[in-house]
Amino acid sequence: LLTGQADFIKGVVAMDGLPPADRMEVCFAGRSNVGKSSLINALTGRRAIARTSNTPGRTQEINFFTAGDSHYLVDLPGYGFAKAPVPVVEKWQRLLKAYLSGRATLRRAFLLVDMRHGVKEVDAEIMRMLDTSAVTFQVVLTKADKIGASAREKTLAQVREKLSKHAAAYPELVVTSSETGDGIANLRAIIAGLT
Ligand code: GTP
Ligand code: MG
Repeated sequence: LLTGQADFIKGVVAMDGLPPADRMEVCFAGRSNVGKSSLINALTGRRAIARTSNTPGRTQEINFFTAGDSHYLVDLPGYGFAKAPVPVVEKWQRLLKAYLSGRATLRRAFLLVDMRHGVKEVDAEIMRMLDTSAVTFQVVLTKADKIGASAREKTLAQVREKLSKHAAAYPELVVTSSETGDGIANLRAIIAGLT
């Protein structure tokens, strides 16, 4: 499920460019460089369907991918990139708000958090936006391959504590590594199970 028939549909910079809302949709949000595009590649089993980069802020548009005929996977531009000019950040925040509150087919937002870093203030800001938009969000820990078991537990505890303050938070955390494939099948199953 979700594998093998993935395609890039389009990159969007404004609400009027969104593809028709004709199927279920999930989006991937998170700080620059957290691994959103890598996760989409891992989920679809296509190594380079979403462009990844060492340069934070590489993904500037809202990129739509299909996974089979049933879902859109939506790669959002990363936030919290210190070097981005203020007008760029403001334009992005307006578009993100419009997207999150105006997309009827959006079933869940996956909020990616680097397992080494935990939830930062910029993540909490997005969580508040998701609460306001009443979009259920689920935290996906990324880059689990980069740290050991005790550091993982520490981050999980910090994330759980932060989530307790957010009405739109889905309580189950997903631990992943796009590098090793850990947790990818689990996340695929979660997406496939959304109705
Ligand atoms: P922006 O588009 O800039 O917001 O970044 P992004 O969130 O899409 O991150 P991207 O997928 O481009 O990954 C950023 C860097 O982290 C790349 O060098 C990836 O190879 C690396 N990376 C992503 N996921 C993992 C992972 O699970 N493990 C390891 N070790 N590296 C990862
Ligand atoms: Mg990206």
